[in-house]
Amino acid sequence: MTTRRSLMNRLGHVLPATAEVTNGKLRIGGIAVSELVAEYGTPLHIYDEEALRAQMRSYVDGMRQRWPNSDVLFASKAAPLVAIYAIAAAEGMAIDIAGSGELELALAAGVDPERIYFHGNAKTDYELARAIEVGVHMIVVDSEDELDRLERLVPATHKQRLLLRVIPGVDAQTHASMNTGGSDSTFGLPPARVHELIEDLRDHDRLDVVGVHVHIGSQILNTGQFAEAVAALAPIGGLKVYDLGGGLGVAYHEHEIAPSVDEYLDALIAAARKHLPADAQLLIEPGRSTVARAGVTAYRVVVVKQTGKRFVAVDGGMADQLEVPLTGVRFDAILADRADEAPDTEVQLVGRQCESGDLLIDDARLPSPRVDDIVVMPVTGAYSYTMTNNYNGALRPAVVMVSNGKARLAARREEVADLLRLHEPAGGYDWRNPQLTASK
Ligand SMILES: Cc1ncc(COP(=O)(O)O)c(C=O)c1O
Repeated sequence: MTTRRSLMNRLGHVLPATAEVTNGKLRIGGIAVSELVAEYGTPLHIYDEEALRAQMRSYVDGMRQRWPNSDVLFASKAAPLVAIYAIAAAEGMAIDIAGSGELELALAAGVDPERIYFHGNAKTDYELARAIEVGVHMIVVDSEDELDRLERLVPATHKQRLLLRVIPGVDAQTHASMNTGGSDSTFGLPPARVHELIEDLRDHDRLDVVGVHVHIGSQILNTGQFAEAVAALAPIGGLKVYDLGGGLGVAYHEHEIAPSVDEYLDALIAAARKHLPADAQLLIEPGRSTVARAGVTAYRVVVVKQTGKRFVAVDGGMADQLEVPLTGVRFDAILADRADEAPDTEVQLVGRQCESGDLLIDDARLPSPRVDDIVVMPVTGAYSYTMTNNYNGALRPAVVMVSNGKARLAARREEVADLLRLHEPAGGYDWRNPQLTASK
């Protein structure tokens, strides 16, 4: 067995499609990760652009083949980067946003507002007014309070297309923080109430309810749960649009397997054929499964030490990988320039934020790590960058896209100046010189 095959045999299914090992070095998009790190620093998010585009196309083509009257929305919360909005739009996806920040990023990427769907359980007046002003295609309504706001905000000259979010009463069998379809969910409204609202709004002059939406959660590995959610929509028949949400899970580590896009679409569309009107438009909103595997994060080892356990601390952590403490996801790791060495050492791979919970990988298997080794965590393309924060003054990592031996910056690294900018004296009061501004 060649060295390349031994790493790829073990972790190939969680690495981006163009990953390879040459002379012990992990390469993505034709470039060694250690070269990328030398140029852009660590922590660094790296996306394999070819893999990203291919996954998007497999969703768009897969839906088109199975249900021609359909659209695939990229759930942009998974990776709200201007570069990824632009790539998703170019690959034929519409865009799901869940807040005005994501709206502005999508617009900045050149996404046509007619391709934007606005989600969220607590949209403010400002956000709704801005969405209406720019002309988003669809607003997905989560509550009756939101309908009241829309009554007030949609001008007489406009008719706003709406979907109503339904709580299907389906347990997605995923981590509690990602389970959104149970009867006690905060997201959406009970089916009977949705039915009544559709009747009440039937002849509304400005609010045009065209369909319903359901989303049962994220990191779902059993396609049967999606079919159940579709079945729950059957009693709400006769609508033009059914948005079946996102949620397909991905394999995060060596021993995890996930359904393929084709397996997922087969299950979903079989359920739709059984339960939904044949002439309806179907929408889906994959986020995680579109981008997760195309991305990896590279860190530098800062400390190796033995206490009760062997700890390896890197220069990132829960400030850039919050999914670990939030959802309990289990990652694997690779040493970028020692990818052909046997992973014979068990270590606690920890971050640098001041929490015992800042444990990136519990019992990671690596070739005995040394200070300055580059650690690569695969499958970080979803919900990593989007949840970055400044805990302990951490600076948001840079993001690069790699393709055919070329790297392009997708987001620059946050700098100290960015941090300080938010704290510049505002409103005339300077906390550093109170005596000078006490009269203000
Ligand atoms: C309404 C909605 N649609 C789609 C998604 C995307 O889910 P996933 O990233 O699991 O595909 C989410 C994320 O939770 C969501 O809240």
